[in-house]
Amino acid sequence: MDHFLYRDGTLFAEDVPVAEIAATVGTPFYLYSTATFERHFRLFDEALEGMDHLVCYAMKAASNQAILKTLGDLGAGMDVVSGGEYARARAAGIPGDRIVFSGVGKTRDEMRMALTGGIRQFNVESEPEMEALNAVALELGVIAPITVRVNPDVDAKTHAKIATGKSENKFGIPISRARDVYAHAASLTGLKVIGIDVHIGSQLTDLEPFRLAYQKVAELTEALRSDGHTITRLDLGGGLGIPYERSNTAPPLPVEYGAMVKETLGHLGCEIEIEPGRLVAGNAGILVSEVIYVKQGEDREFLIIDGAMNDLIRPAMYEAYHDIIPVVEPAPGLEGATYDIVGPVCESGDTFAKGRDMPTLAAGDLIAFRSAGAYGAVMSSEYNTRPLIPEVLVKGDQFAVIRPRPTYEEIINRDTLPAWL
Ligand code: LLP
Repeated sequence: MDHFLYRDGTLFAEDVPVAEIAATVGTPFYLYSTATFERHFRLFDEALEGMDHLVCYAMKAASNQAILKTLGDLGAGMDVVSGGEYARARAAGIPGDRIVFSGVGKTRDEMRMALTGGIRQFNVESEPEMEALNAVALELGVIAPITVRVNPDVDAKTHAKIATGKSENKFGIPISRARDVYAHAASLTGLKVIGIDVHIGSQLTDLEPFRLAYQKVAELTEALRSDGHTITRLDLGGGLGIPYERSNTAPPLPVEYGAMVKETLGHLGCEIEIEPGRLVAGNAGILVSEVIYVKQGEDREFLIIDGAMNDLIRPAMYEAYHDIIPVVEPAPGLEGATYDIVGPVCESGDTFAKGRDMPTLAAGDLIAFRSAGAYGAVMSSEYNTRPLIPEVLVKGDQFAVIRPRPTYEEIINRDTLPAWL
């Protein structure tokens, strides 16, 4: 459920008409709903009620500081994967003891930054990384709390580019080697082993792969405890999917996920962390764009819009489906049309949808891509020297630009010419 609904024939974001924001900010732009972010965070928080837990929002999904602060004010922790994300989370007021650091390639500089700034734990993904972290911690005279990310070799049954829990993926250490790796970790005096981490992929629409992975984590917890390790925290990653296509069966709800977590891991008495990104942010954001031209091709009609693949890469990169709706609700009974919906970038891949049934649209009409809040703005680029588009946040009847559109000068002035030119 989200807070982008039609009222009196026009799309609203909470209590603000989307067309009014478009008139103020210009298109294209990302538009987020505070109430939807809050609702989704709370769904996870409540799903784990009764267990000691922390929901660490995977901020890679949407990382504007206004979003981080909105969630942080509700008590959210953050899952970060780079020094930049760490700095952003801290700038948004998230305390270090609510930040977990994930990722296969943490550099020594990033480790130093988090160890001096404060960190809840590092989710370590390899033995070389473990040794590097140990060296940095010893150099700083501190102890780094760690979990080790294990790769449980389960099939997440999601798009290959976002599956992470199979042995051929670069993530984590093979679960079959975990006992040796934990013994190694325990021998490093700059590290304190506190738990286990697992994350098997993104946009999972079935609980079974999670269940399989978590059962393996439960067995490993007991094995490691019998080896003498103190395992008090389990980080279960993110990955729960969202309904991109309304016609499809809905993925499991956070409350069902929470019940499965309790069932598989509740008996261990561990503190539970989860790292949802998409489910918190996905349906909390839309991308608003304007039709520039309707172009008649030989056998099809193209809707050429002012948003492009550089603004929302998901369809080009993962063949992802996004619902695209008109901002002005079509009058009942009005005849529709079928379009290929494309952007202005000079690549055929700049296609959002092929043969999409839509209400009949004309130049100047506004459309909205639903479920664009996660992995939308954060994955955008300036390809074709198209400025990064603004982000706008709504709360009730108020809205604010939380990232302005840069001017061409700002973009161009970032280049520096060498002395010989
Ligand atoms: N934790 C870790 C260690 C992750 O790598 C990820 C996502 C998450 C948590 C959050 O997963 P979520 O709850 O959002 O599924 N750009 C792709 C998605 C990439 C996901 C990467 N890792 C897309 O647009 O579909």
